[in-house]
Amino acid sequence: MFGSLKALPADPILGLSAKYREDANPQKIDLGVGVYKDEAGHTAILDCVKQAEKYRHDNEDTKVYIGPTGSPLFNEEMAKLIFGNHNVLTANRARTVSTPGGTGALRVAAEFIKSCKSGTTIWVSNPTWANHTGLFSASGLTVKTYPYYDYENKQLDFDGMLAALKEVKSDDAVLLHACCHNPSGMDLSQEQWQQVAEVAKTNGFLPVIDMAYQGFGDGLDEDAYGLRLMADSVEEMIVCSSCSKNFGLYRERIGATTIIASSTTAADIASSVLLSVVRCIYSMPPAHGAALVETILSSDELRHQWYGELKDMRDRINGNRQLLVEKLIESGVTRDFSHIVRQKGMFSFLGITPEQVQQLQDEYSIYMVGSSRMSIAGIAQSNVDYLAQSIAKVL
Ligand code: LMR
Repeated sequence: MFGSLKALPADPILGLSAKYREDANPQKIDLGVGVYKDEAGHTAILDCVKQAEKYRHDNEDTKVYIGPTGSPLFNEEMAKLIFGNHNVLTANRARTVSTPGGTGALRVAAEFIKSCKSGTTIWVSNPTWANHTGLFSASGLTVKTYPYYDYENKQLDFDGMLAALKEVKSDDAVLLHACCHNPSGMDLSQEQWQQVAEVAKTNGFLPVIDMAYQGFGDGLDEDAYGLRLMADSVEEMIVCSSCSKNFGLYRERIGATTIIASSTTAADIASSVLLSVVRCIYSMPPAHGAALVETILSSDELRHQWYGELKDMRDRINGNRQLLVEKLIESGVTRDFSHIVRQKGMFSFLGITPEQVQQLQDEYSIYMVGSSRMSIAGIAQSNVDYLAQSIAKVL
């Protein structure tokens, strides 16, 4: 049976890490996968996580099955982080399950949508995270795209987006990035979110919100502005969130799928379907990451420490944006790269051609995704001159 298989190309994002590791050039720079790095290029464990791990080590007394929903305390704390004091929580219309990372959250959402109506069309932004299309298609959903980024002018194609969303049918789903759009870094303004929420309400499509970077844009509440507004406007929606980036728990695989239904009864019915979806894919989520997150979020001291550590990561990334633009000017680049400063979160579209991206990799050992998506956290004081000069040369 295996004889019919054909080898597939490496994943466009994860494949870069392997190439980078093999590169012997001491000046190599990794701007590929979306992972936070400090000035030394290291992805350290957050201090609040270390403390939570110690607490768990001393206090955890069983490894018995946790059940398909995962930890109730984690789910409750995640719902508060996502929705604040929004009335979807007070009205008891939200149901959250812990998932294996943000990707797990999206796949659970996709399978849930399939249970509502098989072959549902889901609209994703053009461009979007490379894995969205694969994972939705793997669940049997039909994936279509709406315009999002205007490559020429390096800004949102908001008119195109809105016009496309106005044509979306009531039994379709629309994937929106809550904040820190991956890959473009270009987010909707508050006014634009209001217009999108208005269209969702009028057309009745299902908003599916991917929030993989809460806290990396403008702040925890600020980054949830759009999805909370959406929850004011529609009766049903899904939020997929991840703790990989904001808690630095990449390898623990912890995220959450939250379903908002029109009533408590509808939420209970949806929840039963959600649990059946989970049971059929992986039965129960891993518990360790959830245990760390709930320990942090339910302790005033650790939570405040986390706020500080998250702010440090956000500030360093924003500082890197400014720094790169300045260094490009210093390197004699006359082209305008100020869009890098206007973009939010872990990523930025540099706006160079795939050939120039390849040249940066082949000749300068600088690794970024072919679309010229850079993971800004990979920039540091120690490599920014080399990076800017190399970009100047390929331009
Ligand atoms: C990314 O976009 O680089 C991250 O979300 C990591 C991944 O899984 O692709």
